[in-house]
Amino acid sequence: MDKLTAKKKIDRLREQIRHHDHLYYVLDKPEISDQAYDKLFKELEALEKQFPDLITSDSPTQRIGGEPLKAFKTVTHKTPLLSIDNVNSEEDLLDFDRRVREALGKEKIEYVAELKIDGLAVSLIYKKGKFTQGSTRGDGVHGEDITHNLRTVKAIPLSLNEAVDLEVRGEVYLPYDDFVKLNEARKDKDEAIFANPRNAAAGSIRQLDPKVTAGRPLNIFVYYGIVPKLKKHYEILEHLKKLGFKVNPNIRVCEGIGEAWKYIENWEKKRADLPYEIDGIVIKVNNLADQEALGYTARAPRWEVAFKYPPMQAESVIEDIQVQVGRTGAITPVAHLKPVHLAGVVVKRATLHNEDEIRRKEIKIKDHVKVQRAGEVIPEVVEVIKSKRTGHEKEFVMPKTCPVCGAKIFKPEGEAIARCTNIACPAQVMGRIIHFTTREAMDMEHVGPALVNQLIEKGFVKDAADLYSLTKEDIKKLERMADKSAQNVINSIKASLDRPFDRLIYSLGIRMVGKRTAQLIAEHFSDIDELAKASAEELSEIKEIGPKVAEAIVNFFREKENHRFIEKLKKAGVRVKRPGTRGQGLGPLKGKTFVFTGGLSHYTRPDAEELVRKLGGNASGSVSKRTDYVVAGTEPGSKYEKAKELGVEILTEAEFVKMMKKHA
Ligand code: IVH
Repeated sequence: MDKLTAKKKIDRLREQIRHHDHLYYVLDKPEISDQAYDKLFKELEALEKQFPDLITSDSPTQRIGGEPLKAFKTVTHKTPLLSIDNVNSEEDLLDFDRRVREALGKEKIEYVAELKIDGLAVSLIYKKGKFTQGSTRGDGVHGEDITHNLRTVKAIPLSLNEAVDLEVRGEVYLPYDDFVKLNEARKDKDEAIFANPRNAAAGSIRQLDPKVTAGRPLNIFVYYGIVPKLKKHYEILEHLKKLGFKVNPNIRVCEGIGEAWKYIENWEKKRADLPYEIDGIVIKVNNLADQEALGYTARAPRWEVAFKYPPMQAESVIEDIQVQVGRTGAITPVAHLKPVHLAGVVVKRATLHNEDEIRRKEIKIKDHVKVQRAGEVIPEVVEVIKSKRTGHEKEFVMPKTCPVCGAKIFKPEGEAIARCTNIACPAQVMGRIIHFTTREAMDMEHVGPALVNQLIEKGFVKDAADLYSLTKEDIKKLERMADKSAQNVINSIKASLDRPFDRLIYSLGIRMVGKRTAQLIAEHFSDIDELAKASAEELSEIKEIGPKVAEAIVNFFREKENHRFIEKLKKAGVRVKRPGTRGQGLGPLKGKTFVFTGGLSHYTRPDAEELVRKLGGNASGSVSKRTDYVVAGTEPGSKYEKAKELGVEILTEAEFVKMMKKHA
């Protein structure tokens, strides 16, 4: 292809991708399948690879670019990002309206009511329609240059459909579900969890490495911009929408303050149903000439106010504090509360996290407390209402020994979490077995916590491997287990024998090894024995696996008990290797060995491997002279280098897909 044709094609592809990004990320109305989108994207990537000098910074392929920064640069805002005055009651709001009416000499004011998204304010600068700089609010006058991170936010257009110079402002936020997921993943890895979506969004946007930010599904609503000739704030918002920005769909024009108050009352009831957190409502004078006439105080505009909602909290009494022992032995104090309604659910317990947290918040048994839903399954205690103390409250004493097995509790120097030191502790054993059976681990559909509890009590199982030697007769001896349910249990245990290798690794419950880490490990080793022999250095070489995780893995395989457990699993017939290292040898790919590296978009990696095996080939985890093909996806790893070194044939994903289609 000559360069001119390529340029035309590239322009066309970029336009299409921008259009579909806008449909998907801004309007939430995708029109094509993920596969079709990926195809466009790959095509653009391939052309840009062929003609690197045609790459421009506003290309959709260039959202994540550049090396991690050493520090953020300071930006001086052209016009300061002022603060906003708060009101807390209907009376305050009516006062605001009266001041506005008096200053303007008008009887009724047209307002715009907007949800006040709980994220962080950013300013975006466009030059000739291209996104050139993004910054945080900072102190209002100086912010931090976070352009590289904002470029990764897919709802922020890198180029507009008009070549205008423009500054817009908006709120970057993390949707509630994504916040919960992010915290779960962090918990998996023993990382500190974020207290709320706002902190998570702020923490994500202030990363020096844009790759980290790109991994967090940040979003934005734009709520401010200057567009010459337009006369109303609402018209500006409409115009920003047309330019490609994401504007909140719940913004309303209100005739007079009465309507604005109704909007406030209405959203207070509905706010728990929104997929993101709001902390109030912003009421703005719609007419821009009126805004100008009203002007500003030293700290805030006179033409807008924020009505702050109280946080979603409730009051309750701590009836008792008990500790829970997790599968890693972690001891968590839990407050047992007088049941209370909070954001649509009845709350009976709240986590107190750890002993330091109890001391810091000065929490005692029988205290009246404020509880808050903080994006975790279990709510937390925010603070003690000290004015309600009677003097009968009792200090909580952290037990010195495990309440379940009596072993010593140990808290390593500098760590917040105390742990039961006995790995044979029934609570830990039970926690490990339950973890093993969960959907994300070995997925034994009909084996739940209650059943595991009974099996342990009856002495039928001492570890998860024992599940595989259970018979239907054993199960029928348990409570409420008829023939059919017993058979279901047996079937779901049997079905788990053949789970993918990464599931098995995750099931072992190695500390700091969550689902994602288990996948990375599974891609690297061909079987459990290879993994068990790996040194910390070898493990650290895997991308994204740090020294702490590597050490946790090595420590796990140092324990004789864990080796015995794995041998039991092998004996039971559990698959402990990457599937099909030795293929069945029948089919068009007979005798051919494939190794995958990097990200695939057409298939998941297990699916691609499964396909190879179905066609008679082998799928292996490591490259050797016997490898026939290495399939290189995006960002291929060391296997790619090794393949080049050994002269193994390298396929792109597209070539691999073609090959599969030919044979399928
Ligand atoms: S207008 C920079 N409109 O609330 C001041 N602010 O206390 C812009 N916020 O951190 C004020 N949603 O980022 C406005 N629809 C909205 C908003 C909103 C959220 C945030 C704003 C600032 C805080 C103001």
